[in-house]
Amino acid sequence: MRKQQNMFRMAIIFGTLLLMLAMAFLARPVFVSAVGGPIYIPFVIRGYNPQTADYVVIGWNDLGMHCYDRDYSTAAVLPPYNNLFAQVIKRGDPPQVVTSGITVEYSFPKNTYSVGKTNFWDYAEKLFGVALAPNVGLAGKGMSGQMDAKGNHFVAEGVPVTEFSDANPNPPDYYQMAKMVAKDTSGKVLAITDVVAPISSEMRCDVCHNQPSPTNFRMNILQKHDEEELTSLAAQAQAGNPVLCANCHADPALGMTGNPELPSLSAAMHSKHAEETTNCYSCHPGPLTLCLRDVMSQKFGMTCNDCHVGGMTALGQENRTPWVDLPRCGNCHASQFAENQGTLYKLSTGHGGLYCESCHNSTHAILTSREANDNAQSLALQGYAGTIQECTVCHLTRPASGGPHQ
Ligand code: HEC
Ligand code: HEC
Ligand code: HEC
Ligand code: HEC
Ligand code: HEC
Ligand code: HEC
Ligand code: HEC
Repeated sequence: MRKQQNMFRMAIIFGTLLLMLAMAFLARPVFVSAVGGPIYIPFVIRGYNPQTADYVVIGWNDLGMHCYDRDYSTAAVLPPYNNLFAQVIKRGDPPQVVTSGITVEYSFPKNTYSVGKTNFWDYAEKLFGVALAPNVGLAGKGMSGQMDAKGNHFVAEGVPVTEFSDANPNPPDYYQMAKMVAKDTSGKVLAITDVVAPISSEMRCDVCHNQPSPTNFRMNILQKHDEEELTSLAAQAQAGNPVLCANCHADPALGMTGNPELPSLSAAMHSKHAEETTNCYSCHPGPLTLCLRDVMSQKFGMTCNDCHVGGMTALGQENRTPWVDLPRCGNCHASQFAENQGTLYKLSTGHGGLYCESCHNSTHAILTSREANDNAQSLALQGYAGTIQECTVCHLTRPASGGPHQ
């Protein structure tokens, strides 16, 4: 009797152990997501299993962070304007990057509108000279819709996303998630992914420009500018016409050439403020956003100036071309890891015509990132967070040789 009871107990303990082991195995991705943040379980989404399907879609955002002003009533540096990219790969031996016979839709399930989260649409026409429908960005894209096929990829330009989710706008979430769905012409879902559209209005000009008005730092800035440059920007804004800096200071980010006699916006801002601060987060997002979250900052302690050599002073030089003379992976890494010649990282392609950013993510968010949202896609595609490196994400069988940088 006693012996039987013991055996029964043993069987229960043994059985439980087996069950736990089985669960641990099934839930593997949960245990390998040792990167912090909420645990993400990349199980089958609406019948789509990214690790076995015939197609995968890999998405990303061109920049590691987009910033915008939020309040456009007085002055504007940048509009809300995120660029989403995607590549669709048909799994095979070899795999194929495809754009024809396929559509890719994007949406923000938790962030469906922007009107009211920023007053951009009240001033867009005065600032940019175009009448925009509510929630539509400067390149014609809304908060959901179709991406455009371009070359071997898809792009949605100028999506006007803000960092304020519908249900819980406070606190802001700077790492908003876009959903991308690839379909064939009959509307059948081929592949799904979730990627970050990083966005922040955290330009902390207000910390220094808080006089004379503590509530409208933009007006203080215009007054300061008027005092020093004999402009009349404050009067213009008071008359109801907000000031667009790029009207006078060239800004390639907006495709605006400004007045060629004047320094570019980047040169003007960095040179003028070189004596005021060395902290990039004073203006770039920011003490809360902490837009630098890539593997090099997290694992090797690298900071802005390690790559942006020379900091504020170098950025302020007038003979530098803003948005072009930027750091390059190839400056520090061996030549097989360099960008395409004369091309920025965000536009360079490598293995099989895939964008560098499809496997590594954008600058400042190079995988493995501090943010769980950045890592979600790689976790879903290969079972663990980090550079896309499992050949079978795209190849049906692991090739015997070769690989992304061979
Ligand atoms: C660390 C403090 C600090 C921060 C942050 C800061 N500024 Fe300034 N800024 C200053 C100071 C100080 C001056 C005035 C210098 C002087 O009086 O010569 C100034 C001057 C200016 C001027 C007048 C330049 C001129 O000579 O006409 C403009 C325009 C300006 N800032 C814009 C901005 C904007 C836009 C931001 C945010 C993106 C910003 N500043 C963030 C400290 C700061
Ligand atoms: C109407 C044209 C005009 C507009 C609009 C304008 N600026 Fe200027 N800005 C000037 C002129 C002119 C100068 C003086 C340039 C010089 O001395 O070479 C100047 C100088 C500056 C400087 C000082 C550069 C330095 O090296 O001393 C900063 C900083 C600056 N502007 C920032 C801004 C910002 C930020 C905005 C938008 C809020 C803006 N400007 C809008 C015309 C303009
Ligand atoms: C006083 C505010 C301010 C500070 C501080 C600041 N920036 Fe900027 N930065 C700006 C503004 C404004 C722009 C222009 C955005 C645009 O072109 O629309 C800019 C643009 C840039 C650009 C893109 C354009 C280009 O010139 O290539 C880079 C790169 C950059 N900043 C790097 C840095 C780094 C690195 C630091 C710290 C060493 C820094 N910034 C500190 C305000 C600032
Ligand atoms: C590991 C290197 C590295 C570090 C660290 C780094 N950057 Fe960059 N940054 C780059 C590269 C590379 C580019 C050019 C991206 C491209 O070619 O598409 C860039 C571009 C930029 C741009 C232009 C917009 C864009 O994203 O292309 C800004 C603004 C910028 N960096 C600001 C910063 C600030 C602020 C910091 C620190 C908080 C920082 N960077 C830290 C490598 C770095
Ligand atoms: C200023 C020099 C510099 C630049 C620019 C730079 N890196 Fe790095 N990177 C490093 C250093 C240093 C390390 C640390 C490990 C090492 O020495 O390789 C590193 C590590 C990495 C790692 C992690 C490797 C590991 O062991 O986990 C990746 C991935 C990476 N870099 C990718 C990039 C990409 C992509 C770019 C361009 C967007 C880039 N790096 C630009 C210096 C740089
Ligand atoms: C198909 C996926 C893929 C693509 C596309 C890709 N890479 Fe990589 N990359 C990897 C993998 C995997 C590694 C790590 C293994 C290795 O070192 O080869 C890596 C490593 C790197 C490193 C770190 C090297 C080091 O010193 O540790 C850099 C820098 C880099 N890649 C830059 C780039 C650039 C620039 C491009 C575009 C021209 C690019 N990669 C395209 C997959 C990719
Ligand atoms: C993100 C997708 C992706 C990943 C990950 C990837 N590849 Fe590829 N690979 C491609 C594409 C796309 C091609 C281009 C096929 C063509 O057009 O010939 C390719 C081509 C190749 C080729 C030449 C064509 C062939 O099949 O013989 C080799 C070899 C190869 N890859 C090896 C590897 C190895 C090894 C790995 C893992 C270490 C790897 N790849 C990871 C997408 C990928």
